[in-house]
Amino acid sequence: MNFYITTPIYYANAQVHIGHGYTTVTADILARFHALAGEEAFFLTGLDEHGSKVAEAAAEEGIKPQELVDRIAIHFKEVLAKLGIEHDYFIRTTDKRHEEGVQRLLTRLWEAKTPEGEPVVYKGLYEGLYCTGCEKFITEKELTEDGLCPDHLKKPKKTSEENYFFRLSAYLKQVEELVSSDRIRIMPAGRKNEVLALLRHGLDDFSISREKVTWGIELPFDPSQKAYVWVDALPNYITAIGFADDPEQFDKWWNKSQIVHLMAKDILKFHAIFWPAMLLALGEKVPEVMFIHGYISLDGQKISKSVGNAIANERLIDDFGRDAARYLLVSQFPFHQDGDINYQRLYERYNSNLANDYGNLVSRVVKMIFVNFDGQMPAAGDSEPDDELGKLLSSTPAAAMERVREIDLLGAIDSIWALIRAANRYFDHQKPWQLAKEGKRDELGVVLKRSLEAVRLVASLTYPIMPERSGQVFKMLGLPEDYQPKLSDLEKRDFLKPGTQLVKGDNIFPRLKAPKPKADTAKAGNDDEAGLIPIEQFAQVKMRVAEVLKCESV
Ligand code: ME8
Ligand code: MG
Repeated sequence: MNFYITTPIYYANAQVHIGHGYTTVTADILARFHALAGEEAFFLTGLDEHGSKVAEAAAEEGIKPQELVDRIAIHFKEVLAKLGIEHDYFIRTTDKRHEEGVQRLLTRLWEAKTPEGEPVVYKGLYEGLYCTGCEKFITEKELTEDGLCPDHLKKPKKTSEENYFFRLSAYLKQVEELVSSDRIRIMPAGRKNEVLALLRHGLDDFSISREKVTWGIELPFDPSQKAYVWVDALPNYITAIGFADDPEQFDKWWNKSQIVHLMAKDILKFHAIFWPAMLLALGEKVPEVMFIHGYISLDGQKISKSVGNAIANERLIDDFGRDAARYLLVSQFPFHQDGDINYQRLYERYNSNLANDYGNLVSRVVKMIFVNFDGQMPAAGDSEPDDELGKLLSSTPAAAMERVREIDLLGAIDSIWALIRAANRYFDHQKPWQLAKEGKRDELGVVLKRSLEAVRLVASLTYPIMPERSGQVFKMLGLPEDYQPKLSDLEKRDFLKPGTQLVKGDNIFPRLKAPKPKADTAKAGNDDEAGLIPIEQFAQVKMRVAEVLKCESV
């Protein structure tokens, strides 16, 4: 099976922030893990460049929308490259290829009939309140007390116009079946239930065009209207792989792949309901998985470009290095949960997990082989002892990959770190320095060979997360410069041949000193004033459930 993974295409109206980095790094790592497992993987990311939100941002700067999105596209690509992102395709919705693809899709929808024989697309009048921040109509009920959009704290605009509508109502039942049966698997399960509740509550047909919007794709069947930005954006997932111009590629990556869409909950409804309905109307396959990850905040602050609080990913890379930054982004909390990225904690995590656990294991094993065996891989017994380390050497690759398939990178990391810690414990208990002093060379060889085997497995299993650091370790192990680890290599206990010349290398994760927290943010009371409880304090709260059996007045 091929593996096709996507991120949302981000609005090209502001700088890339750490929330975008978070989704995109995770997608990159997942794609690389599937490649490690020997699958063919395709990873798509890109930019959503049309719609009034982008047009307004350009107007504010007094420039043309195209000028704005061209600049933002260069910026996004630069930052993503710095994060080590290796996407297979970067889509921009102003690309001619995408525009033509969307027009082809719209023509097909225009000609399509619902299962009941009604036209899928029809003309109707729309009146409502529109928030350009959300790029959607919102109802009175959703507004704040002051009549503002709750997400953007802006007054929505009253709009009334003739639009074309998509007959969503004709597909709700089918979408509900696909979701409830997990044919479209919505993860985590709580999000699936939210989608089912929405579907059972019923949704109105949605309008797929705008009369007053100028910055968009022309409807092929009515040039006086532009495609609604979501009807332009969602199809990026298929135009990028040749929906309209490359049937062979499209067949490979859409029909013959496991498709995984990543996103946060802000855009769940569009992906889990509108998108499958559109695909059903087109007669195309629906995606296998949608994973709704949590929202991150930075040092307790909400991240939102609309509120003007963009945070550079560059700071993470500057402080920790690219590979460690990638690791730290995905190892703080489970992907499906909201979480806070706290700088102080990043340093603690770096020093404990990367410098002390992993870096130290590599250094001390390689060093001992140089001191005692001139840097040549010692020979070892034929049979692998069935102790804690032996068990983990054989079970960790499959265990980590099983977590990856559940889109649980933290789980995968935990299982890899269980191996690192077991290897460090083994090394400590076996006391190879003492074996060396006592001249027990055979026993010493076994200890070092097994420890080095743990290092090889760890470097291979963390390769999708930290490819440069793994490359450094492979070089120390005497592997060829261009060595690409494969899961199948990890079962071979004789992969590293006795006598192989190792190469000395630098410490892969030197310890870092955390900068002193600024006095004003160091106060414990600060978070409380903002109405937020730090997650570690919350974790200490003990909750009990009790049933009230009897009441009396006192
Ligand atoms: O919604 N924490 O684009 P967008 C984690 N163009 N992830 C975050 C985040 C945060 N604080 N903030 C943003 C759009 N994200 C549309 C999508 S897709 C066909 C069209 C990530 O720029 C997260 O993945 O608002 C979220 O879903 C996405 O950025 C929204 O990006
Ligand atoms: Mg958004």
